[in-house]
Amino acid sequence: MKAAALLVAAGSGERLGADRPKAFVVVAGRPMVQWSLDALRAGGVDDVVAAVPPGYEVAGATCVPGGATRSESVRNALRAAPADAGAIVVHDAARPLVEPALFRAALAALASADGAVAAAPVADTIKQAGPDGMVERTLDRSRLWAVQTPQAFRREALERALAAGDELLAQATDDAWLLERAGGRVAIVEAPASNFKVTTPHDLEVAELLLSARRC
Ligand code: CTP
Ligand code: MG
Repeated sequence: MKAAALLVAAGSGERLGADRPKAFVVVAGRPMVQWSLDALRAGGVDDVVAAVPPGYEVAGATCVPGGATRSESVRNALRAAPADAGAIVVHDAARPLVEPALFRAALAALASADGAVAAAPVADTIKQAGPDGMVERTLDRSRLWAVQTPQAFRREALERALAAGDELLAQATDDAWLLERAGGRVAIVEAPASNFKVTTPHDLEVAELLLSARRC
């Protein structure tokens, strides 16, 4: 199955608070989004559609305008994906440390699933609390995963999921949830700890250190 990638880079990066949209902040010498683009290419995915903010572009990718929410950005990018791509891998430009092998693993998992998500086992104990701040219960950590990107999908499954109304799309914190709701089978692909998302200035400092070292 031929694969195409959707690289979502259209967020404003409010929590980072930089002077430009997060995906275009320079990390170890290049715009953050370029690191993911290179990893995609090294992972064998040549067709990449990037959803970008107004006035920005990503060299080496087909660029489309982002939407008001992340899911809308995914939907805009999917429309521009090559028609012959039967597998689609979605990735956040905010995870510049992603390695090529993780893209390959997510796409390979589609052999027996409709979708596959990169995820890390949860290290902390997770408790559920009420609005009063009192613990209601402790969840079974052995079965919990912190979900990331890349997330790979059979194209028809993703198209069906994204056909949901705007209200539902706005609620979705990841793409796989839209598929799960419709009864789709989603596989977990274990990701290395390095695949964190750059959200805060602290994350950016860590990414800068790690990617500078990788460049040497
Ligand atoms: N994203 C997007 N379109 C949006 C919102 C987010 O393409 N309307 C992308 C971001 O560019 C990022 C990824 O989705 O690569 C994950 O989102 P997040 O980390 O929340 O990035 P931002 O929305 O940019 O950051 P913040 O929430 O702090 O504003
Ligand atoms: Mg956001």
